[in-house]
Amino acid sequence: VVAGVWVGDDRAVQTLLETERLRLRRFTEDDVDNLVELDSDPEVMRYLTGGRPTPVERIRDRGLPLLLREYDRHPGRGVWAAEDRAGGDFLGWFELSAADGGDPTEAELGYRLRRSAWGRGLATEGSRALVRYGFEVLGLRRIRAETMAVNLASRRVMEKAGLRYVRTFHVDWPDPIAGSEYGEVEYALLRAER
Ligand SMILES: CC(C)(COP(=O)(O)OP(=O)(O)OC[C@H]1O[C@@H](n2cnc3c(N)ncnc32)[C@H](O)[C@@H]1OP(=O)(O)O)[C@@H](O)C(=O)NCCC(=O)NCCS
Repeated sequence: VVAGVWVGDDRAVQTLLETERLRLRRFTEDDVDNLVELDSDPEVMRYLTGGRPTPVERIRDRGLPLLLREYDRHPGRGVWAAEDRAGGDFLGWFELSAADGGDPTEAELGYRLRRSAWGRGLATEGSRALVRYGFEVLGLRRIRAETMAVNLASRRVMEKAGLRYVRTFHVDWPDPIAGSEYGEVEYALLRAER
């Protein structure tokens, strides 16, 4: 793997892959507090909810159980906890999830890191490893990602992971969130284009 070592989706060790500085592993029921803490930082949630934290009940009763079920529904895909390989600290998560439209040859890249982990190239490192994993191990045809147009750090990570700008579009969110009037952007990379 470009930025790391392929370990394998081994249920026993729960590790999907490792890069120079990151370990991506399956989430477990014990990660509620990690996720609650991550989503409690208004800066982390700025372009996701306008800064509002995710309520603990939503993570414990809905978000996390759903995420755990996805590992079996879509083997090899999902949302993976990111740990600092050196100290084992929880840093956030990366995802390579089944695409919304159900196309099995596509997957959706995403990431959310604790503020203390920002600015060190970690999102790029994890994303590059997942892109390579997606094409070379899962055999995907296309990897796509979306973010709010104003989320420049996220757009930069997509570019540095090799994805290219596709389009700007507008979503009617169920409740208004800061910045939504600026629209969303889609980035994508085809295996054939790499
Ligand atoms: C987006 C996020 C994952 C980036 O993590 P990170 O580890 O700091 O990212 P990296 O260090 O790999 O790369 C960030 C790049 O964006 C650039 N960047 C950061 N903030 C920026 C800003 N406000 N404007 C323009 N570029 C910015 C950095 O300079 C860097 O690019 P460079 O290497 O060319 O200098 C992190 O900020 C985060 O978790 N944000 C909250 C959750 C979120 O918004 N997730 C994405 C939702 S789709």
